[in-house]
Amino acid sequence: MAYNLLKGKRGIIFGALNENSIAWKVAERALEEGATFTLTNVPFAIRLGDTQTLADKCNTVVIPADASNVEDLEALVIKSMELLGGKIDFILHSIGMSPNVRKGRHYSDLDYDFLAKTLDVSAISFHKVLQVARKLDAINEWGSVLALSYVAAQRTFYGYNDMADAKSLLESIARSFGYIYGSERKVRINTISQSPTPTTAGNGIKMFGNLLDFSERMSPLGNATADECADYCIMMFSDFTKKVTMQNLFHDGGFSSMGMSFSAMEQYNKGCNDEEPDHKFD
Ligand SMILES: NC(=O)c1ccc[n+]([C@@H]2O[C@H](COP(=O)([O-])OP(=O)(O)OC[C@H]3O[C@@H](n4cnc5c(N)ncnc54)[C@H](O)[C@@H]3O)[C@@H](O)[C@H]2O)c1
Repeated sequence: MAYNLLKGKRGIIFGALNENSIAWKVAERALEEGATFTLTNVPFAIRLGDTQTLADKCNTVVIPADASNVEDLEALVIKSMELLGGKIDFILHSIGMSPNVRKGRHYSDLDYDFLAKTLDVSAISFHKVLQVARKLDAINEWGSVLALSYVAAQRTFYGYNDMADAKSLLESIARSFGYIYGSERKVRINTISQSPTPTTAGNGIKMFGNLLDFSERMSPLGNATADECADYCIMMFSDFTKKVTMQNLFHDGGFSSMGMSFSAMEQYNKGCNDEEPDHKFD
C-alpha cells in the first residue's frame, strides 16, 4: 500500500547490488511513495550486480561512485541535482565492506591496511557524503540522511570482526554531523540498526545462518526483514519524523533489549551437556 509519503522528494540511494540488498527494497518503496532518485554504487558492483536493472524499473539512472572517493561523491551529488531538478531531500547510505572479513582474518590478527579500508568504506564514507553535501549546499531544509548499522556497534558478536568498529564509528558520525547539519540547516541524520538480513554483505559474516536463527529466537517480534527495513527508512525520509535526529534507531524486533528468551534457552538446552565451556573465540 502506498501513501504518497515521499511525493515531490528527491533522493540518492547508495548500495543496491541485487534484489536482496536493503537499498534495493528502499528504492522500490521510495518509488511507490512518489519520490524521484538516483542510484549509485561502486563501478565493479555495477558491472557484476543488477543495479542497472533496478534503475530501469525505477525510470532512473545509475551514477557510478566509490563512496570513499570525495571527487566521485562531488560529481554524484552535482549530477543528481541536475537530473532530479533541484536539491536533495533524502540520502540512504547502505554500504558495508571489510577486507578482513572477506579474507578470514581473525580480529586479534587484523591486517591494518584492510582495517583502514573497512573503516573508510563502511564508516568514513558516511562523513564524506555528508561533508560533500553540506559544502555543495545540496540538501533541502528538513532533509533526512540515513545509514544502516548493526547492534555489534554496542555489543560484541562472535565473527562480526572489524565491522563492529566500523559501525561504532558510523553511529558516532551520525551524532557529530547531526549536530552541525541540524543546527545550521535543519538536516536530520540517523542510523537504523537492522536485524541480520540475508543479503550479499550479511552472508559474508561468519556462521551467518546461526546468527540469523539465534536472533530470530531472541527477538519477540522476530527478525526484521529487508522489506520492513525499507518501510522504516521511508518513514524516516518522510515529514512524519522531522524532529528525529542524531539517533541510532533499533529496527530488530526487540532483539537489542533482550538478555535471554525461552526459545533461545530451549535450543541451547538441546545442545547442552555437563562439559566445561572451552571459551573458543576464533
Ligand atoms: N545484511 C545484514 O545482516 C545487515 C544487518 C545490519 C546492517 N546491515 C548494513 O546494511 C547495509 C547494506 O548491506 P546489505 O545487507 O543490503 O548488503 P549488500 O551487499 O546488498 O549491500 C552492500 C553494498 O555496499 C556497496 N559498496 C561496497 N563498497 C562500496 C564503495 N566503496 N562505494 C560504494 N558502495 C560500496 C556494495 O556494492 C553493495 O551494494 C550495510 O551497511 C550493512 O552493514 C546489514
